[in-house]
Amino acid sequence: MTKPLLVFGAAGQVGSEMLKLAADRGIEAAGVSRLEADITDAASVTRMVVEISPRLILNAAAYTAVDKAESEPGAAQAVNSEGAGIIARAAAAAGIPLIHLSTDYVFDGAKTGPYVETDPIAPLGVYGRTKAEGEAKVRAAAPRHVILRTAWVFGQFGNNFLKTILRLARDRDRLRVVADQHGCPTSTLDIAEAVLAIDRAIGAGRAVWGVYHFAGSGATSWHGFAERIVAAQAKTTGRNPTVEAIATADYPTPARRPANSELESSRFAETFGYRAQTWQSRTAETVARLLEHTEPSQ
Ligand SMILES: NC(=O)c1ccc[n+]([C@@H]2O[C@H](COP(=O)([O-])OP(=O)(O)OC[C@H]3O[C@@H](n4cnc5c(N)ncnc54)[C@H](OP(=O)(O)O)[C@@H]3O)[C@@H](O)[C@H]2O)c1
Repeated sequence: MTKPLLVFGAAGQVGSEMLKLAADRGIEAAGVSRLEADITDAASVTRMVVEISPRLILNAAAYTAVDKAESEPGAAQAVNSEGAGIIARAAAAAGIPLIHLSTDYVFDGAKTGPYVETDPIAPLGVYGRTKAEGEAKVRAAAPRHVILRTAWVFGQFGNNFLKTILRLARDRDRLRVVADQHGCPTSTLDIAEAVLAIDRAIGAGRAVWGVYHFAGSGATSWHGFAERIVAAQAKTTGRNPTVEAIATADYPTPARRPANSELESSRFAETFGYRAQTWQSRTAETVARLLEHTEPSQ
């Protein structure tokens, strides 16, 4: 019998999609949510790793509330830094490779053009800083690791920008969305496909260890992303609110965010043979899936 893929953060956006895709493909996977194992508790993480005895671990658990992290730095640090280290040590002790998810927010956004893996990190906020610490802990503890930096994650499960815009499009006639932050919206489906591609490479005995960028193909602003979401839902809902472009300065938030966090995903594609679909096609697909049971407007 093949050993399963073990997913920490099983109830999150990526974790849920991962388990669904694995089930659809007939791939053995075991999901562990916070209820079954708090990743800040080393004993429960180790117990899960020993009990499940997986071939590969995916850490999709994280403290992802970017703004809230500014007022709860201890909570963010416990999960994103300490928790990442705990999983990495448990994986290494059991001799199991680890895929650890990280973020474009480890960069400060000052670069012109997409970020590559060798660019220096310089997080602007608590979330990015704690994720950067988590990366360092994974590198130090688990020699057989793949750190996957992704960005602007959306999908059918959990909470995300796409779902927020769908809700606002239903309730309001005018949306105001930041147009001076650029990045790569990434579908949870593509991330789950990327994990399976890494799994195949490791299974084939390839030493693929290190850090990779992996994000949706193409780039846009939050405003561009919102416009595309609104356009995708209009036919079904009959709702067509105006999407007004505003500046970051007009929408103050507790956390500073990078103005440019585009990720260059070529290294991943060359190594693993998988490139994410365009963010536009994944947006259309996700909106269609979420509105599946909505009757088209006349
Ligand atoms: N969301 C984005 O736009 C984005 C962008 C770039 C990178 N990423 C990275 O991608 C990964 C997956 O993100 P996501 O969007 O799927 O996040 P998510 O939807 O917020 O899911 C994270 C999951 O982790 C769980 N969790 C939090 N603290 C935990 C703990 N102490 N022990 C066990 N589980 C815990 C959460 O459970 P609760 O709900 O109970 O807290 C939640 O189910 C993360 O590493 C994130 O940093 C995300």
